[in-house]
Amino acid sequence: MTTEEEQVVTPWDVSGGADGKIDYQKLVKEFGCSEISEELISRIERCTKTKAHPFLRRGLFFAHRELDEIVTAYEKGEKFYLYTGRGPSSESLHLGHLVPFQFTKWLQDAFKVPLVIQLTDDEKFLWKDLQLEDCRRLARENAKDIVACGFNPETTFIFADASYMCPSFYVNMVKIAKCVTFNQAKGIFGFTGDSNIGQIGFPPVQAAPSFPDCFPHMFGMNKKSLKCLIPCAIDQDPYFRMTRDVSHRIGGYKPALVESRFFPALKGESGKMSASDPTSAIYVTDTAKEIKNKINKHAFSGGGATIEEQREHGANLDVDVPWKWLNFFLEDDEKLKEIGEKYGSGEMLTGEIKQILVDVLTPMVEEHQKRRALVTDEVLDLYFNPKKTPKVFLDLFREYEEKEFGKWEKKVAGDSGDDDDLCKALEEKMKLEGATENEEGCAIGAPKSEDWLRIRKERMQQDAPTEGSKSALKKAAKIKAAAEKKAAEKAAKAAARAAKEAAAA
Ligand code: TRP
Repeated sequence: MTTEEEQVVTPWDVSGGADGKIDYQKLVKEFGCSEISEELISRIERCTKTKAHPFLRRGLFFAHRELDEIVTAYEKGEKFYLYTGRGPSSESLHLGHLVPFQFTKWLQDAFKVPLVIQLTDDEKFLWKDLQLEDCRRLARENAKDIVACGFNPETTFIFADASYMCPSFYVNMVKIAKCVTFNQAKGIFGFTGDSNIGQIGFPPVQAAPSFPDCFPHMFGMNKKSLKCLIPCAIDQDPYFRMTRDVSHRIGGYKPALVESRFFPALKGESGKMSASDPTSAIYVTDTAKEIKNKINKHAFSGGGATIEEQREHGANLDVDVPWKWLNFFLEDDEKLKEIGEKYGSGEMLTGEIKQILVDVLTPMVEEHQKRRALVTDEVLDLYFNPKKTPKVFLDLFREYEEKEFGKWEKKVAGDSGDDDDLCKALEEKMKLEGATENEEGCAIGAPKSEDWLRIRKERMQQDAPTEGSKSALKKAAKIKAAAEKKAAEKAAKAAARAAKEAAAA
């Protein structure tokens, strides 16, 4: 019996079906995610007042899970945070690696939300033939390229697993891990008896940052202080399918996802871009000359074999790599359309479209190199600093409580200005208002505008009670009791004083 070759898509393995191509519609069905509709894109444009990124307009980010819910909540004034990541296994990134980060940068700017970026040095150590120390070094090297994409240092936190792992992170991991059996993990990830147990135990590491309390310095200790949106390539879906399955049981929200197609390899869609074959991809470190050579010599062409054939039949855009890459990186919709028509009909030759691609990529890569050169260790530390933050929220939600913060900042300005004091001052402020760190909507510095709280409360009432809200109630009760005790003591003292004064008189 001959079986048709099945496509395989896991976080570590991507191979197409019999024709070498990925059937994305089949993938969406199999994984159970949804395609992004035109209507959803218009809603995003409307609520962010920003034109959709080309990756979104052109269907490169094409699938999602509950992105519509994030947008609905956002329309009502509720923010969220973004979470994405990279496994640092190679010295320099290729263009495909930049795609999710360029898109995330756009999301961050359009929605004005905070972002966390995970560098899974541990994952690469467990899967590749690399020393842990090398993976840790690569994490920092890769972070420079990520920072060069232009993320806002005040709202972006980058961390490497082997350095950041902290109690709140670990607590989330253990809770997640307990919800997933080995049989389920085998089904989701394809683990076998030969997988090392580090690999088998890894998925909770990538799942945990979907919950805001992994980042207490940014989002407070409440697992439901903010919802999470994850931009990623669709091969990462299994991690987050698992995460979504356990979210409710550990008392958190399901993370939402926005997922991309794969970036086509230089030598043809079914091929792989591999670090061991430098001609298989264009790297962010390539020179103008290398870019030109690689595209001219190695870019898979759907054009006719001879000029005559191309003139007569035109190019097959379905397999043409320069065309596909222009779809990613040429901003101008009109120009892109024109190129597609001319090249597809044979009016334009392969050499011409390759030249256009060179002209688009060269300045993009050179610009990236310039920006990366500016990322010193000092700059990098701004992003890796796990203490920096309440400022994230202060800045982020300024528009909601301009007045509140205006008053309050004046008070803080009297104190010395360093971060610890800012933290303390925020805690004081929250105490004054009777809020606790654990109370819904009161992650450090989170907005407390009437509207926002009301929306949140309504939603809380719909949700089943969770660990988080129960402990919040307990804590609130404790604080109330403490306050009553204090008031009683004060009253008793006042009464004693009054009695004394009366006796003296
Ligand atoms: N596993 C991913 C990789 O190998 C890295 C990663 C970690 C990630 N967390 C993520 C990717 C969240 C997307 C979203 O590249």
